Amino acid sequence: MKFNSKTIHGGQEPDAAYGSVMPPIYQTSTYAQSTPGGHKGYEYSRSANPTRTALERSLASIENGVYGLAFASGLSAIDAVIKLLKPGDEVISTNDLYGGSYRLFKQVFEKYGIRFHFTGMGQLDKIEENINANTRLIWVETPTNPMMNVINIKAVSKLARNHNILLAVDNTFATPYLQRPLELGADIVMHSATKYLGGHSDVVAGALVVRDKVLAEQLYFIQNASGAICGPMDSFLVLRGIKTLHVRMQRHCENGEAIAHYLKKHPKIEKVYWPGFEDHPNHEVAREQMTGFGGMISFIPKGATFKDAIAIVEKLRVFTLAESLGGVESLAGHPASMTHASIPKEEREKSGVLDSLVRLSVGIEDVDDLIADLEQAIG
Ligand SMILES: Cc1ncc(COP(=O)(O)O)c(C=O)c1O
Repeated sequence: MKFNSKTIHGGQEPDAAYGSVMPPIYQTSTYAQSTPGGHKGYEYSRSANPTRTALERSLASIENGVYGLAFASGLSAIDAVIKLLKPGDEVISTNDLYGGSYRLFKQVFEKYGIRFHFTGMGQLDKIEENINANTRLIWVETPTNPMMNVINIKAVSKLARNHNILLAVDNTFATPYLQRPLELGADIVMHSATKYLGGHSDVVAGALVVRDKVLAEQLYFIQNASGAICGPMDSFLVLRGIKTLHVRMQRHCENGEAIAHYLKKHPKIEKVYWPGFEDHPNHEVAREQMTGFGGMISFIPKGATFKDAIAIVEKLRVFTLAESLGGVESLAGHPASMTHASIPKEEREKSGVLDSLVRLSVGIEDVDDLIADLEQAIG
């Protein structure tokens, strides 16, 4: 099946009981057994639940993987990946990444003896410099949040393979509609399913997809042992979201492109970050590994200060000032004080997250209304 059919049918079958086309929300914690161990494949909903299974199969299908795992949030999915490691192990991560991922790495896992190295990954030698005998995992986010840097997944996967290091890719921004990391050699794909997969800003959820059976078994063990599973209602919502992922993404990309060009031409805008521009430093890589450039855009107004950036996001009316991204409605954020506030200012500014940076998640409204809204807010 092609991608646009997989979003609807991938891994799905009508429900065995009454043939319902959408999987029922199996809102149950446990399952009747005829004798100890005599059950129909489900015994306790932390270990497995049929609605979650339907979502996990869909996730595996759309990422062209084999095994999917659905979690309570994107961060709990990342948490499960890091729990593959032990004290003394080292991780190399992009230095420009979601602030919550950085906080989890630094403030939770470092105290258990796992070391994290943060570096720009635009050039491979930056990664190579940090590899040593203890390196177990490379953590890539591409495009990065919020600077829209693009990392060459195929090249990093070759490097990782040569050194026997796992490669995990946070595919939240691109979604499998635009980019499928497992096809480019990654071992693990991760999502904040809260974003484009759910797509309607009505659920918090996370996902992992892998191809390797042993790795899948290790992750299923951690998912069950730690317990941060996606509940049945939330699994249903993400599954419903995925069914329209391709049509939503098509419009996110169209609107994103129009707004990126509008901002680039605007006399009061200094810099626009969007991987679709030919002068984006890794545009060629983006062109090769993505089928479009998405609806996430960051920009810096000319001569702007912290206060000026705040004034713009406060004036927006169609864009909602809010955390998060990837929903049908357009959102605007101020990374330095919102999504990336947990990264120290000095660290944050090294990767370009200045106090004047504004981030847009371009939704699927009429693009003329979105441009008019930006026009009145920027002035
Ligand atoms: C790129 C990226 N990864 C991970 C996360 C964390 O996901 P969640 O908020 O679902 O825990 C986010 C949340 O904003 C994100 O943008």
